Amino acid sequence: MPSTNDVLLNGAALVGFVPDPGRPLHQVQAVMARFSDGTDHQRRRAVAVDALRRLDVEAARQRSYDMAARALRSEETVDLAPLARTVPTSVLCELMGLSPAIVVPTIDALCRALAPMGGVVDRPDDEAVMAGLHEAFGDMDEVVVNRLSLLFQAMDATSSLISLEVIRWADARATRRPAVSETRRTVDGETVVVRFEHPGEEFGRGAHACPGQGLAEAMVRGFLDAVRASGRTLTLRVEEISFEDRPNLRVAVALPTRRLAR
Ligand code: HEM
Repeated sequence: MPSTNDVLLNGAALVGFVPDPGRPLHQVQAVMARFSDGTDHQRRRAVAVDALRRLDVEAARQRSYDMAARALRSEETVDLAPLARTVPTSVLCELMGLSPAIVVPTIDALCRALAPMGGVVDRPDDEAVMAGLHEAFGDMDEVVVNRLSLLFQAMDATSSLISLEVIRWADARATRRPAVSETRRTVDGETVVVRFEHPGEEFGRGAHACPGQGLAEAMVRGFLDAVRASGRTLTLRVEEISFEDRPNLRVAVALPTRRLAR
């Protein structure tokens, strides 16, 4: 098995995304930097990186703390798993001047329609998700798609990172696994699975390395600080936590907490 360095740093290794002409959402996905190669990739990545540069990392950490803290004050029992999806995406919406109430459900549907999943999956309908995207973002040109791709890239991956940090908070002895477990490239027409073995590798390397790492880590820090300050405990033992059936991400199905007695 080649190491991540060999494959992800190899200029001849392609993402090689082939859109299914029968799936409208694949036409959007194909325009995202993450799924593009060559000069298309460079141009589209520049759009994403430029949009990211405008976002204030410290404000993102603080808003993530505030939103999580507020949700954790509300009920006796709170499941952190859905919050781990919605809080970071809502924070990004706010920083990007978008309405979380409209955009978060749209991005959630986009992720559920496109995310690699094992087993039989009940996916939202492409046409319905496309209609939601048009309503939320207008015309889907390359710039619009690569701005909204920040939300798409952030939602599942950041919820996965939060899942694993919550587990470490609950049990310091738990082994911290990489949030992203693998990615793929095409080399000379052959698919190569690149496995991330250690948490230090989970943001990728090379031309497609994650440009959102600092922002994601800041939001995770804010979220976890709110969890630590909430006087709560996880009501499952870490061995009891189950994960969604995904080949590339570790996302906890549920992370139920309750308030500790004072
Ligand atoms: C604020 C949250 C995030 C944003 C805005 C973001 C954004 C992006 C974007 C735009 C790309 C595509 C870059 C390109 O193809 O040139 C990307 C790739 C990537 N991101 Fe993130 N990301 C976020 C969170 C995360 C998290 C939490 C993880 C992992 C724990 C992660 C792991 C990755 C990896 C591994 C890739 C590269 C995949 C590959 O090379 O095949 N990202 N991200």
